[in-house]
Amino acid sequence: MTANTAAETASQTATPRVIPIAVDTGTAYGRPAPTHRADLTEVGPGSPMGELLRRYWHPIGMVADATDTPRKVRVLGEDLILFRDQSGRPGLVYPHCAHRGTSLYYGKVEATGIRCCYHGWLFDVQGHCLDQPCEPGGGKARDKVRQPWYPVQELYGLIWAYMGPPERKPVLPRYECLDVLDEGELLEADDSSIGGGGPQIIPCNWLQHYENLVDPFHVVILHTQFSGTQFVDQMAVMPQVTWDTQEHSVRTISDRKLPDGKTLHRISEAGLPTLRVIPSPRLGRFGRVESLGWVLPIDDHSFRIYVVGRVREAGELRRMRTRMNGKLWEEMTEAEHQKYPNDVEAMVSQGVIARHSDEHLATSDRGIVMLRRLLLQQLDLVREGKDPQGVSFDPDAPPVHFTAGNFLVD
Ligand code: FES
Ligand SMILES: [Fe+2]
Repeated sequence: MTANTAAETASQTATPRVIPIAVDTGTAYGRPAPTHRADLTEVGPGSPMGELLRRYWHPIGMVADATDTPRKVRVLGEDLILFRDQSGRPGLVYPHCAHRGTSLYYGKVEATGIRCCYHGWLFDVQGHCLDQPCEPGGGKARDKVRQPWYPVQELYGLIWAYMGPPERKPVLPRYECLDVLDEGELLEADDSSIGGGGPQIIPCNWLQHYENLVDPFHVVILHTQFSGTQFVDQMAVMPQVTWDTQEHSVRTISDRKLPDGKTLHRISEAGLPTLRVIPSPRLGRFGRVESLGWVLPIDDHSFRIYVVGRVREAGELRRMRTRMNGKLWEEMTEAEHQKYPNDVEAMVSQGVIARHSDEHLATSDRGIVMLRRLLLQQLDLVREGKDPQGVSFDPDAPPVHFTAGNFLVD
């Protein structure tokens, strides 16, 4: 180091002193526009996830929704018409009549199908054109016309549709936890989106709810500390959690040390493609899972949930809907929603589609990483021309078994 000359010292003294100002960091200014994982979220025809989901059967209504009054349904971004001909067969068809496009929503249901209101063309549940009353002889070329349709089946009180490539149509799965009833139990189906914590149609992308299934920590924060104990006191205990990937699900295993020295061993699963395998957080009974739910993507921006469960009396499922501050979601004011948020507020406020580029996943999100990986593997299988996991083409396959349940361990 050299000593400063007198001149240098004088010039330094003359320079105005720069006071270092701490520059703010991490402000919202100039942040990049958020983006989402289109491959994981978007469900329209031709999209990767849309094609994956179209390899499975989905519930699209309650059995009672198919009547001789045509009903609009929207599934995986497609508008369709559900009806039941007067011979009792449910039908699901493209809305625009194959003649000149009038909606079959205004059609009249007859013994053999649905008749368009405009010129009376009649279509059966498989879209065959049976009559063209304005054409000579009832339409000599009517066999050349087909109204686009999808196969449907009825099971567990629900109507199921397969909207994928016909040659890849799997058998409609059965489930052990719904097929084998304990004494005094009956099956019940519900379409009020139990588990969504809010309205029947939830205005955000389906994946936000599917990921909610492998997120056991939010039970302690959102459902207990923030909004009061919505389930039971035991669920307020911070759990020890592990996750694993099964053949067609991601399991969440949560162990809670209870004050009486016992351990609550809880296994829940997110099953392919959209299954909620969530034992009751109310711990009404211990043992195997008592209900299944299916998250149905209506389109990229909304979903609903169908549930089937073993109950002891009719109406039991509907009574499982959560109450905050003693009220159902639709009975609450906006101020109450802000004070007592539920799953719907947590999910919908992530964005109509969550901003994946802005996320900071942490150790508690391992289940979400595993679930996305499982979905990505299925996208790869479909892209390679293979069948995804969790589909079966064997009509004699045994019912699907899940290990989910609430168990008390000494
Ligand atoms: S548009 Fe439907 S019969 Fe003509
Ligand atoms: Fe929740």
